[in-house]
Amino acid sequence: MANLLVTGGAGYIGSHTARALERAGYSVVIFDNFSRGHRQAVEGYTVVEGNTAERKKLAALLREFNISAVMHFAAHSLVGESVEKPDLYYHNNVLGGLNLLEAVLEAGVKHFVFSSSAAVYGEPEETPVGEEHPLKPANPYGETKVVIERALHYFTQAFGLNSVSLRYFNAAGAALSGGIGEDHDPETHLVPLILQSVLGQREKVTVFGNDYPTADGTAVRDYIHVDDLAEAHLLALEALLQGRQSQVYNLGNGEGYSVLEVIKAVEKVTGKAVPYEFGSRRTGDPALLVAAAKKAERELGWRPKTTALVDIVESAWRWHRENPQGFGAEK
Ligand code: UFG
Repeated sequence: MANLLVTGGAGYIGSHTARALERAGYSVVIFDNFSRGHRQAVEGYTVVEGNTAERKKLAALLREFNISAVMHFAAHSLVGESVEKPDLYYHNNVLGGLNLLEAVLEAGVKHFVFSSSAAVYGEPEETPVGEEHPLKPANPYGETKVVIERALHYFTQAFGLNSVSLRYFNAAGAALSGGIGEDHDPETHLVPLILQSVLGQREKVTVFGNDYPTADGTAVRDYIHVDDLAEAHLLALEALLQGRQSQVYNLGNGEGYSVLEVIKAVEKVTGKAVPYEFGSRRTGDPALLVAAAKKAERELGWRPKTTALVDIVESAWRWHRENPQGFGAEK
């Protein structure tokens, strides 16, 4: 089985994917600077601490471990923060990403899986959003993802580096096998924020806007279970190892749920009322963001398993209830 490098493997989606890769029999080396990731999320793995800025270290590592494919999760991923600190996002996501790609070329690695995002589309012109939708990011975070996607496109042509870019919609939930889950600091994502309010860690949730042109006036998103995302990475890797050419795939369930529907799902799962209030819209938030994700099914054989919103929320609830401080004291 191939040896893999997983950058950002101590983060939310990276750690769930590392687990799926190990279970499938691959040898995984985690590369993380632990600026946002958690050591407890990667206990038992071979871990190398470092930054994507360290090209020489990365190239040496790729050679030393005889790495066949790189999965690149290491990036900052908060839309709001990217608007306030675009320099940080360009530096970390673009410079870091290109630096890693240079190391990959230098070491002769031929396969690359990239964490992209629905943020590359910006405000969608139609829904559901297919992969051919124009790339018009509405914030620096989305811009940085487009830069790396475009570089990967040209690197395939010039250097034969085959890649898969996976455009995630709204990742949610926690490992069905337990032990790891979502823990951002600061937390900005809807599902953990609602669960923290149920746990009494927050006074209430503010629903950003109730005047959107949607059925109940609140914004609609496509929530996809993090284990299903992890599975898609495994399938993408295997397609590349079998000779697949570079591709881009949306990863979502193809079903949209409003913020109020997510709140109702949490109430159903937890049996508790969610304290919430309506606030103004958050700048840059589209009304509706739902994936057309049939390409991944058709070409990779990807079929999300935990598709019902209540089941996604249930897995997140289990993690938050058992780990009310997230990964806790080690941070
Ligand atoms: N929301 C609230 N209140 C909150 C937090 C969120 O109402 O306190 C709403 C948002 O307005 C949005 C929905 O809940 O309608 C989901 O918000 P998240 O912040 O959880 O997720 P986003 O849809 O903003 O972001 C996700 C990914 C990003 C990605 C983006 C694509 O987390 O990485 O989709 O636009 F860039």
